[in-house]
Amino acid sequence: EKGGFEHFMLKEIYEQPKVIKDTMSCRIASDGEQIQFEELNWTPEDVKSIGKIMIVACGTAYHAGLLAKYFIEKLARIPVEVDIASEYRYRDPLTDSKTLCIVISQSGETIDTLAALKEAKRRGARSLAITNVVGSSVSREADQVVYTWAGPEIAVASTKAYTTQLVALLLLALYMGRLNGHLTADREAQVIRDLQRVPDQCRNIFDHAGDIKELAAKIKEKEDIFFIGRSMDYGLAMEGALKLKEISYIHAEAYAGGELKHGTLALIISGVPVIALATQQDVEEKMISNIKEVKARDAYVIGVVQEGDTEVRKTIDSVITIPRSDNFVLPIMTVIPLQLLAYYTAVVRGNDVDKPRNLAKSVTVE
Ligand code: M6R
Repeated sequence: EKGGFEHFMLKEIYEQPKVIKDTMSCRIASDGEQIQFEELNWTPEDVKSIGKIMIVACGTAYHAGLLAKYFIEKLARIPVEVDIASEYRYRDPLTDSKTLCIVISQSGETIDTLAALKEAKRRGARSLAITNVVGSSVSREADQVVYTWAGPEIAVASTKAYTTQLVALLLLALYMGRLNGHLTADREAQVIRDLQRVPDQCRNIFDHAGDIKELAAKIKEKEDIFFIGRSMDYGLAMEGALKLKEISYIHAEAYAGGELKHGTLALIISGVPVIALATQQDVEEKMISNIKEVKARDAYVIGVVQEGDTEVRKTIDSVITIPRSDNFVLPIMTVIPLQLLAYYTAVVRGNDVDKPRNLAKSVTVE
């Protein structure tokens, strides 16, 4: 059932090209130029009447929500708030009938996410669930559902569920942007073209799995590891840190590059690994300054950059490259080496990769 792989997690990482394709292909019109969501069937007025979007989720699904804020705000210009479900529930949130509440949940059974959805509905919000499990509690509770079609995810550490959530959320942002008039047809077609290349490009990343395994061997004895990034790469830094903590049990923290000087830099001493995500062109220069700040304290920097980069690599110790793509599409690929790094680190440390200590696949108690 593991299809020849040593663990479910690795199998699920390698399934990503296929499931990414499954998630998007049914939503791309046959001319390849437009996004369609038959299950939503929204009109321009439906989208224009949304005053604000509230995204609520837990763990990895919450991290997908952080990226969705960039997708939706930039492509559809609708304000987006992202909240952890267990916080949202108890903070008397500003949610009303002009709010669209999007809940994201792989299992569709996470108790806090389900309760947050009920709370949003009680306050009059419209609701949309992004979930992987057909007929799950969340899918039954929400007004509308977008399925991620990732297939069953067995490993506790979420991988393919996350990338397909990113795909679904990016498609949704494109769809809303066209309907409310903020996105040109050309821009939409351009992002779709890059999205369609992702499944093949993922295989490119897998070709370098051996290098990532070597990096895992280098960091395996470390006690603290930092992930830094800016804009969408910051959200990915959080996901990379979570994955590493969850299965390797190494303490990891994610920081927005610009926040280092506000405290965390004090922890950067000789040899501390810093994974610097620097794929986003518009903030590249700023990331380079942040990398220099940690290099000046003799950190060991692993940079994640787009293929063809010449500048970032001058400042780092080891490099992981991601195939070139649109800014919005890149995160779907950038996370894959982070998943592999967490995986191989957990394996060399002899951990139970698929069933990490103290954790359950689906959190149905508070
Ligand atoms: O099923 P859900 O997407 O609602 O689960 C949410 C989190 O429990 C889940 O993503 C968790 O953070 C993962 N184990 C992370 O890999």
